[in-house]
Amino acid sequence: MSKTRTALVTGSSSGIGLATAGVLAQRGYQIMLHGLEDAELGGLIARKLADEHGVRTDYCQADLSGTRQVERLYRSCVEQFGAVDILVNNAGIQFTAATAEFPPEKWDLILAVNLSAAFHASRLALPAMQRAGWGRIINIASVHGLVASANKSAYCAAKHGLVGLTKVMALEHAADGITANAICPGWTDTPLLNQQFENYAKEHGVSFDEAKLGLIHTKTPYPSLIAPQAIGELAAYLCSDAAAGITGAALPIDGAWTAH
Ligand SMILES: NC(=O)c1ccc[n+]([C@@H]2O[C@H](COP(=O)([O-])OP(=O)(O)OC[C@H]3O[C@@H](n4cnc5c(N)ncnc54)[C@H](O)[C@@H]3O)[C@@H](O)[C@H]2O)c1
Repeated sequence: MSKTRTALVTGSSSGIGLATAGVLAQRGYQIMLHGLEDAELGGLIARKLADEHGVRTDYCQADLSGTRQVERLYRSCVEQFGAVDILVNNAGIQFTAATAEFPPEKWDLILAVNLSAAFHASRLALPAMQRAGWGRIINIASVHGLVASANKSAYCAAKHGLVGLTKVMALEHAADGITANAICPGWTDTPLLNQQFENYAKEHGVSFDEAKLGLIHTKTPYPSLIAPQAIGELAAYLCSDAAAGITGAALPIDGAWTAH
């Protein structure tokens, strides 16, 4: 790398985003962290990453359910670091209910955070990537961008949409040195799943840990949760020169969930 590249990782105060930010920092990229947490807590996370890996980091709080906040986050990264070379659209939320009972406000929020925010951040980042002749857009989708599960209408719609958006951007920018890919994780060890584990434990009268294994086996033969770090490693590979020809892909990392 001739210049130090900057990665903006949305939703990097926790889970997959935080692990991805850590792997990218380890590879020497400057990192703009983001989350809902206040500046004090976010600043602590950013400083820890900077101390561990000797790279510049910063943190920006923004609620990405609103377009203006996505724009503020993008501007803040450009002001701090001069560019967004790598954009990891990771921020996401989940809510489960049957379609007929799905609260309309939850539908709107999930679509806004999991899909529209990725569109807005990407449309802002692409022109400068195009001028630079290099860029990486990595959308953290889900197996639910490839297959469906009952009670996840909004999540599945958003994640299928995110995979579609990824493919369109890949086609539009394949000749510009910009790649756009989706990573499609299965059950991954983050706080996002806790509510689902708690529900399963209650329904089946089992402990939280038993619920984990029980729920995993409803979808995949792989007997463990995926480590968030593993998603980060795949993202880092997609940033490498070796991955320049991988674009428009939706890559499962799912313990054979989608092999059925
Ligand atoms: N955990 C899994 O099993 C799994 C599987 C497939 C895909 N994913 C996807 O991975 C991504 C990260 O999820 P995670 O499991 O690490 O969850 P997490 O709950 O640990 O992290 C979610 C992140 O999103 C941010 N966020 C939530 N609401 C936001 C909002 N309104 N505005 C801005 N940021 C907001 C949070 O601050 C946090 O940083 C999500 O897009 C999720 O759909 C997770």
